[in-house]
Parts: sequence; structure tokens; C-alpha cells
Amino acid sequence: MNNIQSYIKENKDRFLNELIELLKIPSISADSTYKNDVLKTAETIKTNLKKAGCDMVEICKTDGYPIVYGEKIIDKNLPTVLVYGHYDVQPPDPLNLWNSPPFEPVIKKTALHPEGAIFARGACDDKGQMYMHVKALEFMTSTDQLPCNVKFMIEGEEEVGSSNLAIFVKNNQEKLKNDVILISDTGMIAQDVPSITTGLRGLSYVEVEVTGPNRDLHSGLYGGAVANPINVLTKMIASFHDENNHITIPGFYDKVEELSKKERAEMSKAPFNLDSYKKALDINAVYGETGYTTNERNSIRPTLDVNGIWGGYTGEGAKTVIASKAFAKISMRLVPHQDWEEITQLFKNHFESIAPEGVTVKITPHHGGQGYVTPINSIGYQAASKAYQDTFGKTPIPQRSGGSIPIVSLFEQELKSKTILMGFGLDSDAIHSPNEHFGIFNYFKGIETIPLFYKYFTELSK
Ligand code: BES
Ligand code: MN
Ligand code: MN
Repeated sequence: MNNIQSYIKENKDRFLNELIELLKIPSISADSTYKNDVLKTAETIKTNLKKAGCDMVEICKTDGYPIVYGEKIIDKNLPTVLVYGHYDVQPPDPLNLWNSPPFEPVIKKTALHPEGAIFARGACDDKGQMYMHVKALEFMTSTDQLPCNVKFMIEGEEEVGSSNLAIFVKNNQEKLKNDVILISDTGMIAQDVPSITTGLRGLSYVEVEVTGPNRDLHSGLYGGAVANPINVLTKMIASFHDENNHITIPGFYDKVEELSKKERAEMSKAPFNLDSYKKALDINAVYGETGYTTNERNSIRPTLDVNGIWGGYTGEGAKTVIASKAFAKISMRLVPHQDWEEITQLFKNHFESIAPEGVTVKITPHHGGQGYVTPINSIGYQAASKAYQDTFGKTPIPQRSGGSIPIVSLFEQELKSKTILMGFGLDSDAIHSPNEHFGIFNYFKGIETIPLFYKYFTELSK
């Protein structure tokens, strides 16, 4: 495309500063203390979308945080790209593990980001990646190179389950009509190994409560004679995996698609170094389901993980007590075809059935969502692949990710279009963790690659 590199060069500092301003606003959707900041972020994005060339921008109210919508329609006969992203971020806790405050962005060099990376909550997930699209639009409109129509839909509740966006999408089919959905909210293999995400896992998230005696008891007077809810819960949790780390919930794997030998062989070609993987995490071995590689375990296989567990005495010193209750939060990552509501029900039935006498259990489902796979022979995928080929000089590798963006399968169901996941983050960018960052190289590579997607998508659609 004409002079994208020089455009980026001329505007580099401004592009960085605008993102930095956005990152300073703590748009934490999970914590209502930050309500005004979340709303302010939506306003800022609205203003920036307008400046970048959208003809129409609006803040669409929902029962939760609003959706920022913008569009530039140049010709009804041309294809329409719908860009989705999210402006909300995860809570930054634990704060003491950040090397600089999460909402005071700083640029620092790292081994993987020799050109520097912006450190801030949301830098990679998803403000930085979402904003690449705003700047790509600015480039296309200001140089008169926008080849098709574009719509933006940026939400503020992705990190808390997107339930209001689901309603918005169902009620606005005509407004959101498009030929392809474009999202940058995933990752790529490495700086010199571009990849396009072709799959996302589904999710079922539940909270469990185990109750034993009606009050906390002296562990000497009652210990050994009544069920200890913490002992029971941990035993139940331990039973969820067998000796091969296979999940034991009856029916759990019924709809899991086994990939063919050929597909697995294809997957194994993606560059992966087990030693650097272990080194980066400071572990002496990987751990997981027998018969599958690390890359398979974290993408094409479902999982069950405890995310939090509590109960009893955890303060200073010792307290001899049998707690009345024990709790855990459990997530199951699902693969395409596994239905999250069905899996939640299977979990519930199983958890109730294995609870021993002497305790009662309560299971509360949280959010969930279906997995997603996208074919690599679609026009959208081909256009993305050509775009990366131009900017990285290499054909990108299709790769299924282990993460979830539950709304993507709903997009397909309601809007009948495929999503292309052009992620520019690295797994090591620490999303959801302390010291989240996004490479400056990645930010600008994204801005450079996106306009080419528009160009090739429009050409291939003819
Ligand atoms: N952007 C992530 C998902 C992601 C990250 C997918 C990297 C692939 C690679 C998204 O913001 C996210 O965090 N999703 C949640 C689920 C959501 C329902 C809270 C997740 O995957 O845990
Ligand atoms: Mn995200
Ligand atoms: Mn996230």
C-alpha cells in the first residue's frame, strides 16, 4: 500500500502518545469503583474514531457498559469489514508485583522487545491491539486508500463475559451487517514467526461451595468424627483428573473432535522450543494429558482448572479449626462442538454425585461461551495471509489458541459471518498478569498489516 511506512514514521510519537493516554484510564469492568473511568474510556474512543475518519460514531447504551459504534460507508456495493475489540481491562492485582504502576504507562526494552514495549494494564489486551485498527483507519482515510466499508464495535464488558453485547448483536443485525469480522485480541508465535489464530476455546466457569457442620469446630474435639469440607473439596477436585490427566467427568469428551494424524502433523510444524518454554516459566517439566504435546494440550484439548480455592483459617500463625465451608472457582476450557451449557450441567451432575455423605454442595455457574474454529480457505483468511506475507515477508502459520473470546461464536450464529483473528501479542506479554506489556514493534506491525487486509479482502471479494 502506498506510503504506509512513511505515514507511520511521521506519526510515530503521536500514535504512541494516543495509546498511552488511553492506557492511563483504569477501565476495569469487573470493579464498579471504576465506573466513571470505564465510561470515560468509551467517550475517548468515540472521539478518536471520529478523528480517524468515521462518518458516524455513537455510544450505544446497554444494561451494562456501553458499546462504541462507528462506521464509514463509502459504497453500498463494496464489502464491509466489522472490527471488534474491547476497551475494558482486567483488574491489575496483585499490585505489589508490578514494577511500575499499571495505569502509568512506561516504555522499557525487554529481551523479546528490543525496540521497547509499553507496560500498562490493557497494553496488549486489548487497548493496544484495538487501537491499531483505529490508526490503520486513520491512515486509510487520510491518504484516500480505504477500499471498502468499515464498521467498528468496541465493547466494555469483554473481561466480564460480554452478556450485554450478545443482546446488542441480536437486536442490531441490520446495523452490524458485514462480510467479515476482524479482531486483534489474540497473539502470534514470535516476532519473526507471524501466525493467524484459527481457533479459540470455549469456556464454562463455575463456583462450588461445600458445607459440612453448621459452624466452625475445634479440630481436636470434632476432628476425625465429622466431614471436613476442605478435605472433602480437595479430594473431590483431585478426582477430576485420572493418572493420565484425563478429565473424569462422565460425558465430558463425548463431543470433542479428535484431529486427524495429518492435522496434528501440520500443527506440530509450528516452531516450538520446549526448553525455552520451561525456562521462561522456571519449571523443570511440563505437565498435562498423556498422549498430547504441549501445543495440543493448550489448544485442541479441553481442560479443567481450579482458579481459586479458599476456606478455613489462613491468617498468621496456627488455628486448630474445622471450617464449616470450603469454596473453589473452577474453569473448563472447551474445544469446538462441546456445548458450554451442556458441560456445565455435566459438571454439576458429577459434582453432586461424588459428594460424600456428611456434606452438602452448591454449584453456581458463572459465564461461559462456545469455542470457535475458522477455515483457512476463506477469502478473509487468504486476505490476512497475504497481508502478513507483505509485512513480515513470510506466510503466517495458522494456529489454534487456548484462550477464549466467547462472543465470536455468537457473531457467526447471529451475523452469519466468519471472524479473522489477527493477533499481534506474544504469549509472554503477561496479559491478565502483573507487568502486562505490548511491543512497539508489534503495535506498528499491526498498523502496517491491517490496511493490507482491507485491500486484499476487497480485491478477493470481487
Ligand atoms: N483477549 C483475551 C483472549 C485471548 C488472549 C485469546 C490471547 C487468545 C489469546 C480475552 O480478553 C480474554 O481474556 N478472555 C477470557 C474469557 C472471558 C470470558 C473473560 C479468557 O480467555 O480467559
Ligand atoms: Mn481481550
Ligand atoms: Mn482478557
